Amino acid sequence: MEFKKVQRLKGEVTIPGDKSISHRAVMFGSISRGLTEVTNFLQGADCLSTISCFRKLGISIENTPDRILVHGKGLHGLSAPSELLDAGNSGTTVRLISGILAPQPFSVTLTGDASIQKRPMKRIIDPLTEMGADIKSISGNGCAPLSITGKHLKAIHYTSKVASAQVKSAILLAGLYADGETKVTEPYISRNHSEIMLSYFGAALTNRDTTVSILPEPELLGQKVDVPGDISSAAYFIAAGLIVPNSEILIKNVGINPTRDGILKVAKEMGGSITLLNVNEEHGEPVADILVKSGTLHGITIKGEIIPTLIDELPIIAVMAAFAEGTTTIMDAAELKVKESNRIDVMAENLSAMGCNITPTEDGMIIHGGAPLSGAVIDSKADHRIAMSFAVAALCADGITEIKDSQCVNISYPAFYEDLARLTK
Ligand code: S3P
Repeated sequence: MEFKKVQRLKGEVTIPGDKSISHRAVMFGSISRGLTEVTNFLQGADCLSTISCFRKLGISIENTPDRILVHGKGLHGLSAPSELLDAGNSGTTVRLISGILAPQPFSVTLTGDASIQKRPMKRIIDPLTEMGADIKSISGNGCAPLSITGKHLKAIHYTSKVASAQVKSAILLAGLYADGETKVTEPYISRNHSEIMLSYFGAALTNRDTTVSILPEPELLGQKVDVPGDISSAAYFIAAGLIVPNSEILIKNVGINPTRDGILKVAKEMGGSITLLNVNEEHGEPVADILVKSGTLHGITIKGEIIPTLIDELPIIAVMAAFAEGTTTIMDAAELKVKESNRIDVMAENLSAMGCNITPTEDGMIIHGGAPLSGAVIDSKADHRIAMSFAVAALCADGITEIKDSQCVNISYPAFYEDLARLTK
């Protein structure tokens, strides 16, 4: 697909539902008793993979145009699937469902697409094994396909080397079935949607600093979940509104959970005009409209505890940095290498192709911004966040930008290009 420079962006955009929260609503609804009704569910390929896995585990899930109805059967209501479970491109599906499957009284094989089969699963295999699970990487390389044979689990206190909500959630979900209180400590706080939603469904969790504990065998009950717009999808409009001259965009109904809002802090620190309107809360998840106006940005250093709160936004932050005056340094973000693509290398290659001065590092990148960029052929590596980041970069670059595998935005934002184009009219 081809993109070119625009004069300005103006208007309103309503962002589709949060991917992390949509996955969790289906998963937690499936292991709760009774009906879970989910509105503003993200109809992206990743969340549809989660629905498909839980249907194979015997849960009836109705996907109607305005809501998802999950007919949950309780903690012990899943049944053995007759075929393998396919998580597609979704790391969240593989890692979280593993925590639910490890204690079930049956065996499963869990796999996904070529990208998933390269992503590290040892990070969940190790703690689940310590709890007594029988979970193995079938090819022996620490990646999916995984074979899981249900076992009784014991409670542990796990200290994770990475700040990962997927690792934390897998352990907490396994902890629902363990023989005592399960605890997870992480180096920095990662997104806490599992903790918020599990509490809402009836689980007993406590938080202290970077440690979360969960008690086993709660009575989980189905609930209504209205999914906030995904701040990770809003990020492309935040960046576009800031870097395309003469722009003003109102982004409606965006989740601004403090474990996800690093992009807002970074945008403001870079000098961006960001205003929150209609701040509200929906079952523990804060929501707001975000008003963005274009202006001059300057480079900053991004490192430490803010990184997990903007981990998925670093590709688009790198694009903002390319259009900012001065140098932006991103550190402590080695996790970028094990996302849907190696996002350090892929950002460096593609931004360089557009004429940006960028140096990849072991745990991030250094971007010398401010030079004009020109259109190029962008290899998205079928990574949705790379494709969307370069669709935004193209709006400020001279000439034509061609993005390969541009349809991969289906993973998290199927209508992205249409929504972006509407703001150029
Ligand atoms: C997610 C957590 C993050 C994020 C991913 C979704 C989640 O991964 O990158 O897109 O829903 O828990 P890690 O927690 O492994 O960093």
